[in-house]
Amino acid sequence: MCRGKCVVVFVVLTLLWTFNKADIQVSCVFMKSCILPCSFPSGDEVVIHWIQRTTKDLLAHSYYYNQDQLGLQDQHFRGRTSLFQDQISRGNASLRLTGVEVQDQGRYKCYTSTITGNKELFINLNVDAPVDKVNIQQVENRITCSSEGIYPQPDLTWSTSPPSDVSLENNPTVQQTEQLLYNINSSLIASVTDLVYSCTVSTRTNKRTATLFKLISISVSDTETTIPCKSLNPPLTGLVWRFNHSQIILNQTGANVPYTVSEEWRQQVKSVSESGSLTLKDFSSDQEGIYTCELSNAEETYVTNTLLRIEKSQGKGAGDWDSTHDGAIIGCVFAVLVVVLAVVGLVWYRNRHNNRDYTPPPGPPAST
Ligand SMILES: *[C@@H]1O[C@H](CO)[C@@H](O)[C@H](O)[C@H]1NC(C)=O
Ligand SMILES: *[C@@H]1O[C@H](CO)[C@@H](O)[C@H](O)[C@H]1NC(C)=O
Ligand SMILES: *[C@@H]1O[C@H](CO)[C@@H](O)[C@H](O)[C@H]1NC(C)=O
Ligand SMILES: *[C@@H]1O[C@H](CO)[C@@H](O)[C@H](O)[C@H]1NC(C)=O
Repeated sequence: MCRGKCVVVFVVLTLLWTFNKADIQVSCVFMKSCILPCSFPSGDEVVIHWIQRTTKDLLAHSYYYNQDQLGLQDQHFRGRTSLFQDQISRGNASLRLTGVEVQDQGRYKCYTSTITGNKELFINLNVDAPVDKVNIQQVENRITCSSEGIYPQPDLTWSTSPPSDVSLENNPTVQQTEQLLYNINSSLIASVTDLVYSCTVSTRTNKRTATLFKLISISVSDTETTIPCKSLNPPLTGLVWRFNHSQIILNQTGANVPYTVSEEWRQQVKSVSESGSLTLKDFSSDQEGIYTCELSNAEETYVTNTLLRIEKSQGKGAGDWDSTHDGAIIGCVFAVLVVVLAVVGLVWYRNRHNNRDYTPPPGPPAST
């Protein structure tokens, strides 16, 4: 009974195996260039046809009479294909495709012929647009995570540190762009404020995580202050400082690259430390608000929000309070000193008085 089924399974597997064996797998990165390999036994009168086999066959590239023949090329491939001209005589018919698009995915036939015969080879091309950047931001209670330009369709997951059972209800919104890339976003309400939230977006070739740390508040009365950044393992690939979620203060695209300060913040930015902390100077109450540090390496992005409050200097009133305060301290210290001195004096007086009545035990007479 099993025999029949087993034979069918065997035949199917064999077919699949031969089919797959015939196809060369090539992975290309969106917008990059890519080589579809193909070789043939060299000979005279070379003819090469590259055909994309979608619902209908599209001519990607042709070559004969010792030159490219692009008159019948499908317009989708216009200006994006080339052969290695100097390698054709050696039996290399590989096709170079530039500006790879998602629509380039699929099965390709490389047809070659010479006076000695012809050959067909099949290539299966996959396109990947890896996760490039994951954004995480908090506005009031709502934390939003988003990422754009991904292929194939990504997954998004939330987590907290420390792990918690807060609802990470997650139904991400996925949109597909005209270029067939995916944009994904998801948001949740941070009901527990004491947690660190992370969002991971993953696809076939890679994944990236963005982590949002707890809001820090700092009050400053000085005209210079350093705002911290949660440090991340190097090598760092980017740093962005934002003000009130939108305005860019500065950005840096790598560890050894100089940072660029936006025009409006030239006056206030003093320096940026190696770990990303920002030192501001000469600021005024206009610079009160939320400062966001966004630090990235190859796998992760750390986002730290700091609420900066500037303590109003209250001029003379504040000064008076301070001197009164100082006076009180001095008075207090003085009073303690007086008491200590009085006690010491009293003890000393008592001792002298007692010594007068004291009769020393008999012993050798004091020498004169
Ligand atoms: C064809 O030539 C190109 C360019 O030199 C090379 O990258 C490729 O590996 C060659 N392909 C084959 C199948 O020989
Ligand atoms: C998230 O997706 C919704 C629905 O498509 C869109 O309106 C919103 O602007 C997106 N938000 C972000 C941060 O990308
Ligand atoms: C960072 O600065 C560079 C150069 O000024 C700019 O091209 C890039 O768009 C900036 N990145 C961000 C996230 O603002
Ligand atoms: C920045 O945000 C704070 C509140 O978070 C607000 O008080 C301040 O006016 C904002 N500053 C600017 C320049 O928008």
